[in-house]
Amino acid sequence: MMRNYVLKCVYALLLLMLLYDDAASIHGDVKCLDKERRALLTFKHGIQDDTGMLSTWKDDDDCCKWQGVACSNQTGHVLRLHLRGLDSICLIGEANISTLIDLQNLEHLDLSGHQFLYFDISEHIGLFTKLTYLNLSYADIGGRIPYQLGNLSQLQYLDLNNIYDIYGAIPPQLSSLTHLRYLDLSYNFLDGEIPSQLKYLGQLQYLGLQSHGELSGAMPFQSGDLPLLRTLKLGGDFVLKTKQEVEWVSNLSLLKNLNVIECWQLSSMASTNS
Ligand SMILES: *[C@@H]1O[C@H](CO)[C@@H](O)[C@H](O)[C@H]1NC(C)=O
Ligand SMILES: *[C@@H]1O[C@H](CO)[C@@H](O)[C@H](O)[C@H]1NC(C)=O
Ligand SMILES: *[C@@H]1O[C@H](CO)[C@@H](O)[C@H](O)[C@H]1NC(C)=O
Ligand SMILES: *[C@@H]1O[C@H](CO)[C@@H](O)[C@H](O)[C@H]1NC(C)=O
Ligand SMILES: *[C@@H]1O[C@H](CO)[C@@H](O)[C@H](O)[C@H]1NC(C)=O
Repeated sequence: MMRNYVLKCVYALLLLMLLYDDAASIHGDVKCLDKERRALLTFKHGIQDDTGMLSTWKDDDDCCKWQGVACSNQTGHVLRLHLRGLDSICLIGEANISTLIDLQNLEHLDLSGHQFLYFDISEHIGLFTKLTYLNLSYADIGGRIPYQLGNLSQLQYLDLNNIYDIYGAIPPQLSSLTHLRYLDLSYNFLDGEIPSQLKYLGQLQYLGLQSHGELSGAMPFQSGDLPLLRTLKLGGDFVLKTKQEVEWVSNLSLLKNLNVIECWQLSSMASTNS
């Protein structure tokens, strides 16, 4: 009799657990995947976190609840990694972006503002094919801009401004990013010409090309190129020189914000334009 009762209780409990589990997944209480949690912990490993920004990142926890991490409530995949450094919060050390390649569904990656010393934007970045937003501005990452960025065909925002330690040419492969609305490459040590292929970025609304480096040649655009551009930032070594360049800019019907540093004639043109 007693045994029967216990059995019934056990069944009831099992049933409840099953129901709860079901309800949990319906109601979006999906936990992060093991593989993705391990990838995040590996990423954290090389980083010195004096301000405790990653203090919620612990071994046994559901990584979807960690600071800066957001997951799909259907699949549990990590969709966003948003670790923006403010003045007082700053991660230091070796940020190996390649350790994150198991986050195959990542759509948003923001590591801006940290002092990641001596680390490249790895060519593995091309594997994050679902990214729509990538912000590494003010992150002390070094190296060249990998041409593999051209693989991120969903990308809408690419902010690499003030990384400072990046050098070399702007890869023409960036022209494959046809959804790009925001491109900022300002204040790096880039050299070479601005690739003419960038004229194919038909959705571009913001273009930042102020330079500390040796960008040379002409602006490769003509009337009709980049028709949706609203903000254009030039300067440093790079200003508008030829008649054709000036004509291109003055014909941009949506341009509201022309920011040309060290080029007085053109700043007065900006005020007549807006
Ligand atoms: C799941 O995510 C979608 C889209 O982000 C959101 O609209 C919805 O409210 C979420 N559902 C739950 C239960 O959190
Ligand atoms: C970065 O991470 C990748 C993938 O885990 C690894 O293969 C590579 O050796 C790491 N690079 C460095 C410099 O630690
Ligand atoms: C990138 O992050 C910086 C702050 O670290 C922010 O000021 C900037 O607006 C961000 N860029 C985009 C495109 O959101
Ligand atoms: C980029 O995409 C091409 C094909 O679309 C693929 O062959 C290549 O492996 C990708 N490279 C990286 C680094 O993702
Ligand atoms: C561009 O502007 C010039 C004069 O500023 C004008 O003659 C030319 O027709 C314009 N081109 C287009 C495509 O609007």
